[in-house]
Amino acid sequence: MIQYKNLFYSFHCSEIPGFDKIGEAAKALSEIPSNFDRIELQKKTGSDRYKDLRASLDALPDRKEAMEFEAKGHFNKVLSSVKPESESANHKPEEKWSFRPGHIAFNPEFGRLDKLKSLLNEYFDHNCLQAGDFLYPPDGFRLWHTNKFDLESWFIFFVDVDKPKCSFFKFIDPETGELVTHWDEPGTVNIFKINSNNSDLLWHCIGTNDCYRWSQGFSIPGHWKEKLL
Ligand SMILES: [Fe+2]
Repeated sequence: MIQYKNLFYSFHCSEIPGFDKIGEAAKALSEIPSNFDRIELQKKTGSDRYKDLRASLDALPDRKEAMEFEAKGHFNKVLSSVKPESESANHKPEEKWSFRPGHIAFNPEFGRLDKLKSLLNEYFDHNCLQAGDFLYPPDGFRLWHTNKFDLESWFIFFVDVDKPKCSFFKFIDPETGELVTHWDEPGTVNIFKINSNNSDLLWHCIGTNDCYRWSQGFSIPGHWKEKLL
């Protein structure tokens, strides 16, 4: 287990007692849709802009600009009463997945995460809300953001990669401003807390080099440590 203060934890699924079936269910989701084309993804933003956006992860975020971008994205969403599962509102109903800048998001309406979610609900005895189901191709990214407008909660993200230490989750310690880079390993989970208070925001971003990275996120109860630590 890797721990950074009470901000970020990363475990191999095999390290967690009772997580065998959950780890298997997550692993089974690591597929590349046959109709997905990386070049199409880059064309969506324009190839030059795509490179610039990917390169922006190498620097600390311009917080004002990044927050404006995040707020705009949020208010463009059609909000449903249950967040963060409002993600389904961001897909056309017939699309199994859709493009996002630097990655793709699977449409929750197709039930890809149903098995994983029900195993997690059972494990935590809690209704764990689905927070995202993403695939990052090589040179993929999720720009710096805070999730300030989403549910304030602890989250678990299942992370799988086809190459170790070739993709990362970066975050900034809200207290000290320190930049922390966590390099991904296959079959792992990242756990961190999303806060919406401006003083506690967890700025974070995701990037891939020459690998594919899958992640599926869920909210988990605040007492998760009683089960996992
Ligand atoms: Fe995020």
